[in-house]
Amino acid sequence: MRIDVISIFPDYMQPLKLSLVGKALERGQLEVHLHDLREHAHDVHRTVDDSPYGGGPGMVMKADVWGDAIDAVIAEGPHDLLAPLLVVPTPTGDVFTQARAQELSEYPWLIFCPSRYEGMDGRVVDFYRRSSDVAGVLELSLGDYVLAGGEAAVLVMVEAAVRLLPGVLGNGESVVDESFADGTEGMLAAPVYTRPPQWRGLDVPEVLLSGDHQRIAQWRRQAGLDLTRTRRPDLID
Ligand code: 6GU
Repeated sequence: MRIDVISIFPDYMQPLKLSLVGKALERGQLEVHLHDLREHAHDVHRTVDDSPYGGGPGMVMKADVWGDAIDAVIAEGPHDLLAPLLVVPTPTGDVFTQARAQELSEYPWLIFCPSRYEGMDGRVVDFYRRSSDVAGVLELSLGDYVLAGGEAAVLVMVEAAVRLLPGVLGNGESVVDESFADGTEGMLAAPVYTRPPQWRGLDVPEVLLSGDHQRIAQWRRQAGLDLTRTRRPDLID
């Protein structure tokens, strides 16, 4: 998979070098290309924003700067890959879910466009939705709260998608039983325990020490269901 990120803070993406995503980079399962949006500004001050039409607080990121940056990334990109999917993080987007993470992981090429201030000029997504230079445009939100910019959301979305790529998780780590995985009927996963069997007066549930795999599976299903009912009743319907 190839990922491009266009941002006024490309250094914000440095954590991608660490941990699981970093390993995928080292193994060549993933390529990440960072781009400074300001390199596509049109003036000596490298301006990327302007005041909003209609008035109001804050600033809006300029359509021409974003358009030139996105076009340049597409033009410099690999021509053997299919058209890229544009991902625009925004609190007004569709909520990012495990299904969205799976969807992102199935594209060979993603271009992330995190904005700051009050967001980017609305015509940018309108333009690329009609453009055959991209496979599509997804506006995605992490949830019902507001971040200072989309960069932290890019870190989240990249990690969630990359860990689903074939061969990125090791043998011991499985994507099948975890919360929100396919086949778990959208339930939260049961709590987990390791040695010692007793710690500060607290015991590991006896069934997990029994070696009875059928009872263990039943217990985990029930514990996951109980947890889902109390913590996330919205998932039960
Ligand atoms: Cl994707 N961006 C911003 N700025 N705020 C958010 C968000 C994204 N998701 C939740 N809040």
